[in-house]
Amino acid sequence: MEKKFGLIGATVSHSFSKTYFDEKFFREGLRDYHYDLYELKEIKDLKTLLEENPELCGLNVTIPYKEQVIKFLADIDPAARKIGAVNVISIKGGQLKGYNTDSDAFRETLERWFPNEPGSNALILGTGGSSKAVQEALKKLNIPFKTVSREEGRGDVTYAQLEKKGGVLADVNLIINTTPMGMSPNTSTYPPIDFDLIDTHHFIYDLIYNPARTVFLQKAEMHGATIKNGLEMLHVQAEKSWALWNN
Ligand SMILES: NC(=O)c1ccc[n+]([C@@H]2O[C@H](COP(=O)([O-])OP(=O)(O)OC[C@H]3O[C@@H](n4cnc5c(N)ncnc54)[C@H](OP(=O)(O)O)[C@@H]3O)[C@@H](O)[C@H]2O)c1
Repeated sequence: MEKKFGLIGATVSHSFSKTYFDEKFFREGLRDYHYDLYELKEIKDLKTLLEENPELCGLNVTIPYKEQVIKFLADIDPAARKIGAVNVISIKGGQLKGYNTDSDAFRETLERWFPNEPGSNALILGTGGSSKAVQEALKKLNIPFKTVSREEGRGDVTYAQLEKKGGVLADVNLIINTTPMGMSPNTSTYPPIDFDLIDTHHFIYDLIYNPARTVFLQKAEMHGATIKNGLEMLHVQAEKSWALWNN
């Protein structure tokens, strides 16, 4: 029986999710399984998508709909509700249930890479859906953090205030980019931090995986930081999505 899965977002052409699932379905002999990219101009277009594709069994959700999609769900996993963002939807009998696999995927990949020595302190750039997943992961790992936003009041500090508030960049040893700055096709952009304050004690994790080395990661590496992109996280969250769809 044909089964459809896919990714919804405002722009989805940058995503590696289709390639990941196409290869997986081929490898595992799942010939009737398909994964497609669905670009939605507005989140309310989800209703039409579901009507036109009754074979849909599961969806991933990307920028900027991880929070907006919640009002379309019949049910939400308690962990996703707590985080306030959904990146996986399972569809059974036309009913949508939302989950968050970003948070555990981020936490697991961070634990394998970041030493998390006593006194570790993090800065999260961005306050959207994946920022919320990262915040929950850092809480579980007991890593204190501050969030950085373009707008005053949305996070703990703005980019402009970053250095005025007592050397925040120098005080943290982990910086996570959860903004789309630098993501394909806008590859020349990067979060506006003072890279002269980045050095060898910094670990810099960019959730972006396309391109593999964003300008943000390149600049941080040039200043001696240890860097990581979002590809491993993408793969881990995809496998967790798959497990939920087959539950
Ligand atoms: N590797 C993975 O598995 C994985 C998983 C999840 C997400 N991601 C990546 O993470 C990024 C964010 O995704 P998301 O779903 O969290 O998006 P989102 O919900 O739209 O949040 C992005 C946040 O970044 C900030 N932002 C947005 N546009 C910006 C801009 N032009 N300049 C500076 N800041 C901007 C905003 O925070 P402020 O308004 O407070 O500044 C916004 O809330 C995307 O690149 C996505 O591909 C990767």
